[in-house]
Amino acid sequence: MQKIKHLVLGITGGIAAYKAAELVRVLVKEGITVQVVMTDAACQFITPITMQALSGRAVHTKMWDASIANGMPHIELSREADAILVAPASADFMAKLVHGNADDLLSTMCLARNCPLLVAPAMNKQMWESPATQRNVAQLLKDGVMMLGPDSGVQACGETGLGRMLEPEDLFAKLLSSLNAELPAKPFAGKRVLITAGPTIEKIDPVRAITNLSSGKMGYSIAEAAIEMGADVTLVSGPTNLAAPDLAKIIAVESGAEMLNAVIANISNQDVFISVAAVADYRVANPSAEKIKKSNASLNIELIPNEDILAKVAAMPHAPFCVGFAAESENLLAQAEEKRQRKNIPLIAANLASEALGKDESTLTLLDDQGIHPLPKSSKSKSARALLNHIAKML
Ligand code: CTP
Repeated sequence: MQKIKHLVLGITGGIAAYKAAELVRVLVKEGITVQVVMTDAACQFITPITMQALSGRAVHTKMWDASIANGMPHIELSREADAILVAPASADFMAKLVHGNADDLLSTMCLARNCPLLVAPAMNKQMWESPATQRNVAQLLKDGVMMLGPDSGVQACGETGLGRMLEPEDLFAKLLSSLNAELPAKPFAGKRVLITAGPTIEKIDPVRAITNLSSGKMGYSIAEAAIEMGADVTLVSGPTNLAAPDLAKIIAVESGAEMLNAVIANISNQDVFISVAAVADYRVANPSAEKIKKSNASLNIELIPNEDILAKVAAMPHAPFCVGFAAESENLLAQAEEKRQRKNIPLIAANLASEALGKDESTLTLLDDQGIHPLPKSSKSKSARALLNHIAKML
């Protein structure tokens, strides 16, 4: 069976272009990289920026692109692909394919391809039933082009009949069966991953607490990416405003001590422990049961150290593969490496606190026994996938 890893998704002009956005999400979630190419008409229905954000890759719309080294995007982009899928494929685009027209990037790529071509037609039922379209469909099938759909039902124009584009999940299933393809292996299939995320809060009295600026975004992104990569994820989370990732087992905690207990209770049988939480280093020695009243005297609060969860797990007899995070304000790499060795862990991800805390993007540098591996600045989801790929190689 062919493994499908990289797909060119061509989008042509039609109202069903909005479904292409969801299709990209489905494909990316399954570990497939998607290179989106849009016709001018497609850009009237959905923006390249939307498709770029969802696919994580620059979207191509033009034949003449100086950013492609050899100036031949139609060759360069299609040579990497396991297949080209045109979804939605308009009646006009299918007619162009029949005649071998090559007057824009997508039609030229289809002509220049050396991989399978699949089309998902989307048009009004009269257009689909017209003798011209039916002749074109017959010719495309004869030329070896695979036809996914169309579906029947209520159409955007209000009429009912054959011509709707298949729904993204159905399209994806048909794509795999038409290509007799399977998904790329998921690197964390069968692996159990425990992740801590977010801040902790250490109570001073019933209404006051010591906490920090961690948003939990990095830990939640890692949990989501690990699930996509096949892991069975347990997420021990301090208080955040984030939606829990689907399919993760969530354990909500508040204090560092609660986080420690939750981790210890769930650590057996874990393959990987990723300690992303910003655990408070100290807790209040004697939190007051009642609200502390204001007075003119100075107030001293005694703080005592919290246990280091990561170091404790790493020191266990059958410790999972332990990964730490270091958010520093200075001497980033030296301090991160010092932490890695002090906590006796194989891998640490370092970032500058000012560039990471509460932000949507991060710039991670990974440090392991082999040395220093800088990752590019990118969304936390992308950084999370890169980190997990690195872990998968080390396991
Ligand atoms: N960590 C932990 N338990 C703690 C403190 C930290 O598990 N009580 C983990 C964090 O989740 C992170 C790593 O240890 O993966 C480093 O945390 P960090 O706060 O950067 O380092 P500390 O060891 O607390 O050192 P310092 O605060 O002095 O920088």
